[in-house]
Amino acid sequence: MNMLFQSQPPVLVVDNLSLEFTNGPSRIHALDGVSFGLARGETLCLVGESGCGKSVTAMALMRLLPKSSARITSGAIRLTGTDLIGLPERSMQTIRGNRIGMVFQDPMTSLNPVHTVGMQIAETVRRHKRVGRREAYARARQMLDLVRIPDAGNRLNAYPHELSGGQRQRVMIAMALACDPELLIADEPTTALDVTVQAQILELIADLKTELGMSVLLITHDLGVVAATADRMMVMYAGRIVEEGPVERIFARPSHGYTAGLLRSLPGHGAARRGTLTEIVGTVPRLDRPVEGCVYAPRCGFAEAGCTASLPPAREIEAGHRSSCIREAAVFAAMRDHDIVRSWA
Ligand SMILES: Nc1ncnc2c1ncn2[C@@H]1O[C@H](COP(=O)(O)OP(=O)(O)O)[C@@H](O)[C@H]1O
Ligand SMILES: [Mg+2]
Repeated sequence: MNMLFQSQPPVLVVDNLSLEFTNGPSRIHALDGVSFGLARGETLCLVGESGCGKSVTAMALMRLLPKSSARITSGAIRLTGTDLIGLPERSMQTIRGNRIGMVFQDPMTSLNPVHTVGMQIAETVRRHKRVGRREAYARARQMLDLVRIPDAGNRLNAYPHELSGGQRQRVMIAMALACDPELLIADEPTTALDVTVQAQILELIADLKTELGMSVLLITHDLGVVAATADRMMVMYAGRIVEEGPVERIFARPSHGYTAGLLRSLPGHGAARRGTLTEIVGTVPRLDRPVEGCVYAPRCGFAEAGCTASLPPAREIEAGHRSSCIREAAVFAAMRDHDIVRSWA
């Protein structure tokens, strides 16, 4: 499946992106050397616990980080040839909502409560395309149909509070896709929804990706979501990508202590199914000082002296599957009998 994507030029390239926040005397190294590519028609999942840097990555791509405190210290972001980091804000405004669509966790914070959903979608269209009001409304209606909202003609006149959470998220997707973007960034788009609605929204995103031929960067803390939707995945920990590769290979051959921790903490599997949810002990570090070795080592059951001595380089475990864990062989040996790993092997 992945060979298919590799033959095409990437839609998005992120190259060695590092970023820090300065708040008074404190300095947070939020991203450290993040690199990845996203091909046309590909769904790439960025996964990790809360506080790992997933949203910061998305906001950096959209250039929506607070100017006063966030500083990109190195790296490049390219959207089919356009260098986004060097772009003036005015040009960036023509890219947001137009070439890149974005969907967030909570649609209520992104929808305006005093305007109908039809008007909000139409406004997005008019901001970027030279079309009149009627045409923009026609597009809005078409978009509501596209995201499978029944009775779209009437729903155009609904206010956000008149819709269910799932329908509001559909409206957000309609708005994000109204200008036919090359790339959709969805940051925890289903986290606020209940499980059945969550599945419907993920299915919708997957269908639309295929129908529209766009690329999707899907951010989630939930490995179940990754398994259900992604072609490729990146596991992020403390602002670094620690493992990446085709979804089926990472589930079949987890090769980083952190990935193993995430897999073990999935509910409904292994120890968790027997009633003891194995959460990873400890929390994501604050990143206010540089770390010498593997940032995950202090929480890792596989760690040995070498892990903290120096930063483990990313190594290719198998084609397209990279890990920066020097205990990769031990991790896989311990995980190979895990239910999930066996089901993907
Ligand atoms: N505006 C900000 N100022 C300072 N630190 C921030 C800011 N936004 C995010 N951070 C820090 O960056 C890190 C990553 O946050 P985030 O990307 O939101 O994590 P998540 O993976 O949960 O989306 C966290 O340590 C967070 O506290
Ligand atoms: Mg987040």
